[in-house]
Amino acid sequence: MPRSAIVTGASSGLGRAISRRLAADGLHVLLADVRREPLAGGEPTDELIARAGGSCEFVQADVSRREDCDRLVARAVRATASLDVLVNNAAVAGAHSKPLLETDDEDWDFIFAVNLRGPFMLCRAAVRQMLSQPMREDARGRIINITSQHGMVGAPGHCAYAVTKGGLVQLTRQVAVEHARDGIICNAVAPGKIGTRNIGDLSMDESAAAYVRSRTPFHRLGEPQDVAAAVAFLASDEATFISGINLPVDGGWMAY
Ligand SMILES: NC(=O)c1ccc[n+]([C@@H]2O[C@H](COP(=O)([O-])OP(=O)(O)OC[C@H]3O[C@@H](n4cnc5c(N)ncnc54)[C@H](O)[C@@H]3O)[C@@H](O)[C@H]2O)c1
Repeated sequence: MPRSAIVTGASSGLGRAISRRLAADGLHVLLADVRREPLAGGEPTDELIARAGGSCEFVQADVSRREDCDRLVARAVRATASLDVLVNNAAVAGAHSKPLLETDDEDWDFIFAVNLRGPFMLCRAAVRQMLSQPMREDARGRIINITSQHGMVGAPGHCAYAVTKGGLVQLTRQVAVEHARDGIICNAVAPGKIGTRNIGDLSMDESAAAYVRSRTPFHRLGEPQDVAAAVAFLASDEATFISGINLPVDGGWMAY
C-alpha cells in the first residue's frame, strides 16, 4: 500500500508543485481544493499527475468547513488505510488583504477561516487519525504547514494575512510539542517570494519584482519546485529528529 498525503490548495501554484512532487515520490495524493482548474490556467493537477504515472484523486473541499476537513482525512484512510502526510498549503489574501485601518471584521474572519482555522481543523483531524496508526520508522504521521516569511516579519498592507501566518508558525510548534512523543512530526516551510502568478507573485509588476530581486541574496528568484523539494524532504523518512521548525525557502531573504 502506498503512503497517502493530503495537499490543500493543490490545484494551483505551490500546492500544485508540492502535489506533483509527492506523487512522483510514490505517495497517493488527495488534491484538496475549492476548484479543480488552476488559477493560472492549464491542465488540472490530477491530469498532470496521472499522465506522469502518479496516483492521486481530486477532492473538492473548502478547508474553512470542518465537515470537509473530516471528510478529507476519512477519504485518505479509505484509499490507503492510513494518513501519512498532511500539507496545509491553501491560503487566501487578495481583496480581503489590507492594512490594519482598512481591514474590516469580515476581511479578518474570511482570511482567518481559510489560513488558520482550516489548518487547525485539519491538524486536529489528522492527529486524531495518526494516533490510531502504527509507528513507521520514527513517525506515525507528518504534518507540513506552508507559512511565509510574513509569519516572521511584518507585511506592510497585509495585516490579517501576516497575522495568520504568524499563528500558523505557532500552531506548528504547538502540534510538534504536544505530539512529539506520539510520533507525530510537525514542521513548517516558509516560502519567500515564489513565482506562482497568484499570492505574492510579482512577475507582473516590474517595480515590485525589482525590489524583490534587490532584497533576495540568492542569484535568482524562487520557483515552486524549490518549495516542493523542501516539503518532500520533511514528508520523507529521511527527515528524522526534526520537529517544530519553520524552514525558510527564500533565497536568503530572512538572513538579509
Ligand atoms: N507564492 C508565494 O510567493 C508565496 C510566498 C509565501 C507564502 N506563500 C504561501 O504558499 C501557499 C500557496 O500559495 P500560492 O501562491 O501557491 O497560492 P495560489 O493562490 O496560487 O493557490 C492557492 C490555492 O488554494 C486554493 N484555495 C483557496 N481557498 C481555499 C479553501 N478555502 N479551501 C481549499 N483550497 C482553497 C485556491 O483555489 C488555489 O488553488 C499559501 O499558503 C501562501 O500563503 C506563497
